[in-house]
Amino acid sequence: MTKDIDWANIGFNYIKTDYRFVSNYKDGKWDNGNLTSDAVILLDESAGVLQYAQTCFEGLKAYRTVDGHVVCFRPDLNAKRMSDSCKRLEMPVYPEDKFVEAVEEVVKANIDFVPPYGTGASLYLRPYMFASSNVIGVKPAQEYQFRIFATPVGPYFKGGAKPVSVKISDFDRAAPHGTGHIKAGLNYAMSLHAIVQAHNEGFNENFYLDSATRTKIEETGGANIIFVTNDKKVITPKSNTILPSITRRSLMYVAEHYLGLQTEEREILLDELGNFAECALCGTAAVLSPVGKINNHGKEILLPSGMDEMGEVTKQLYETLIGIQTGKIEAPAGWIKVIE
Ligand code: PLP
Ligand code: COI
Repeated sequence: MTKDIDWANIGFNYIKTDYRFVSNYKDGKWDNGNLTSDAVILLDESAGVLQYAQTCFEGLKAYRTVDGHVVCFRPDLNAKRMSDSCKRLEMPVYPEDKFVEAVEEVVKANIDFVPPYGTGASLYLRPYMFASSNVIGVKPAQEYQFRIFATPVGPYFKGGAKPVSVKISDFDRAAPHGTGHIKAGLNYAMSLHAIVQAHNEGFNENFYLDSATRTKIEETGGANIIFVTNDKKVITPKSNTILPSITRRSLMYVAEHYLGLQTEEREILLDELGNFAECALCGTAAVLSPVGKINNHGKEILLPSGMDEMGEVTKQLYETLIGIQTGKIEAPAGWIKVIE
């Protein structure tokens, strides 16, 4: 029986569910892993995650489809990206097929927390890994824990599909040859001061620039960015220092193959921002959140789509993506993993 939760109003907050998956890495290998109802982790004071932030994570969602199934969206790509994160952080890779199996187990064990179709809510899954054994010299730990918890979520931004306002940040998110392209916890820790400042100034998000030249648009703290030109081309920043968003990759495919639009991944200059018709943030949590205003050091750029609703192309992209995720529109082969 689906839980009695006010699905339409839950926002993007942690709600404890019944089961989470846990697997330990010791003596060079992963154990089989199991589900547990215990949400508490007991760690040594010198655990690698606590001292040197050796941790990475993923985010994906389970959806209730129009015909009552429960599905996940492209979990194999999260498994692959987590492998890439682990390699960069000198952590042991959790086998990608086992990752997908564990996602399935966690969704099944918490099936009553999958929000009903049509509520706009979904079950967010948070796979993560951290160094659990002692370190004191700066080096990788010997032992690790991989976990997945689930929590039902609503829209990341209050107001759902209402356009947000963003500022160009004076802080850098990722260095050339650094860790911007992986999902390391440290990338998020360093963004907290910047986001608190942005919120205090009345903005919903930060647009980070490339830290090498500070002339190009990169991404926000938790989403990639797409722009739509006046002739309806969908473009997105090309950079080695942004996270390769699964949502963005999917949207670019949808734009081209479902909507017949031209797409391009290229460097986007700060100076070009005034030229676009639409802009939106994309990610698992953000889905596709329209941007209405961009503040560049006091100079305000108003997107022609305005602060009241999504632009036309953003809306088409949004509806097609949600349609694919909830089974209303046929998905490309391999995009949907049916859980139940
Ligand atoms: N960029 C950052 C920094 C993120 O944290 C996320 C969220 O995962 C994204 C982009 C979007 O990626 P995805 O679409 O795979 O969720
Ligand atoms: C996600 O979209 O899954 C993320 O990890 C981003 C974060 C803002 C929740």
